[in-house]
Amino acid sequence: MRTAIVTGASGFIGSRLVHQLLMRGWSVHALGRPKSGKSYEDRVEAAIEDIDGLPIERGILPELRCHEVDICDSNLGLSRPLSEVLPGTDAVLFHVAGDTRFNPPDPEAQRRVNIGGSLNVMRALQDSVASVVHVSTAYVAGDRQGLVLEGDLDEGQGFCNCYEKSKLDAEIEITNLCAESGLPLTITRPSIITNDTRTGRSSTFTHLNAIVEVISRIQKHYGISDGEVVSEEIRIPADPNSRPNLAPIDPIVDALLDVGVSPQGAGRTFHLSHPDPQPNSEVVFLAAEAFGVKDKIALSFVAALPEEPTWTERMLLRSLRPYLPYLNGAATFDLTNTRSIIPDYDSRFPPITHDYMMKVIEFQRHQGQDDGD
Ligand SMILES: NC(=O)c1ccc[n+]([C@@H]2O[C@H](COP(=O)([O-])OP(=O)(O)OC[C@H]3O[C@@H](n4cnc5c(N)ncnc54)[C@H](OP(=O)(O)O)[C@@H]3O)[C@@H](O)[C@H]2O)c1
Repeated sequence: MRTAIVTGASGFIGSRLVHQLLMRGWSVHALGRPKSGKSYEDRVEAAIEDIDGLPIERGILPELRCHEVDICDSNLGLSRPLSEVLPGTDAVLFHVAGDTRFNPPDPEAQRRVNIGGSLNVMRALQDSVASVVHVSTAYVAGDRQGLVLEGDLDEGQGFCNCYEKSKLDAEIEITNLCAESGLPLTITRPSIITNDTRTGRSSTFTHLNAIVEVISRIQKHYGISDGEVVSEEIRIPADPNSRPNLAPIDPIVDALLDVGVSPQGAGRTFHLSHPDPQPNSEVVFLAAEAFGVKDKIALSFVAALPEEPTWTERMLLRSLRPYLPYLNGAATFDLTNTRSIIPDYDSRFPPITHDYMMKVIEFQRHQGQDDGD
């Protein structure tokens, strides 16, 4: 039985990764912190149950062991070294934990997690693992345009927010540390992850959730339902032809695992992005169709909203502001390394469809009811 150590197991990607590893017969040690009076074990199990909204498969639980750590502590605060509880040193470390906020109130605290925390994890575990898989982001490319190669890193690019810069600096520092210690390192770079294709579910707020939220707020404000509109023309401050790289979580986690456990992964970087992302115009019209207003409004795309936007347009701008750099991004991500390990990679990524959009809306509405929203 193979052993994995996973940080960030209470989060969106980490919980799904842990679940997949357990389902594939791995033994998993999850590292993270208790919160709000809940042990880390309870939090990880709840996050796994949240994937499909179903009780956890009891059979996989004996192979899940949770250890309470804060990656910002230099020795992770482990009461005893992990090497004492690991069967050998052939474990794979999947470092998934990170502070993913685009504009956190304290950017330095984010850097302590994304850079300092990553180095703490590597240093504390370097003698207990055979290899490391680091989850970075395709947006270490910042504001670059055109084709971004998997081998590209610091190309003098600018950044849309401090999150991107912290992830770039983390990649650089982790690469240096692993090179010094001789630890084989695989870097994975997902793009913008969206809801599950089968269920529309997501434990985090995704770009698609943001679009659905804007329309839901407009409906609430004006007391209207699906199929009704308040103004016939809405101007959207985005480039209609730009293709935000939205990739659903389920094929992303499968690909992360395939690349992470491949013997050909070490020393290489892999983009995990959608091979054929759709343009803004298509995504927005699919959303309009899902809300039953496609033929009732004139949606137009503008470079910037005029000085006196309508209430609806102001709301749109306020909700979508953090996402605009990504909606208007002009980078495409090379997938040569990824396809070399996963030859059927492209066929795993379906386009956004009406059916998928409906699942996202349904999930979000149920969640709103559960939250008493
Ligand atoms: N979601 C995306 O679209 C996306 C795209 C590209 C790359 N990524 C990368 O993928 C990774 C995971 O993202 P995600 O979407 O799964 O984020 P997420 O749902 O916010 O999960 C982040 C995880 O990191 C953990 N963490 C944060 N600070 C920690 C600390 N000081 N000590 C221990 N654990 C800590 C969190 O634990 P708590 O639950 O205790 O806070 C949580 O388990 C990140 O590194 C991110 O940069 C994400």
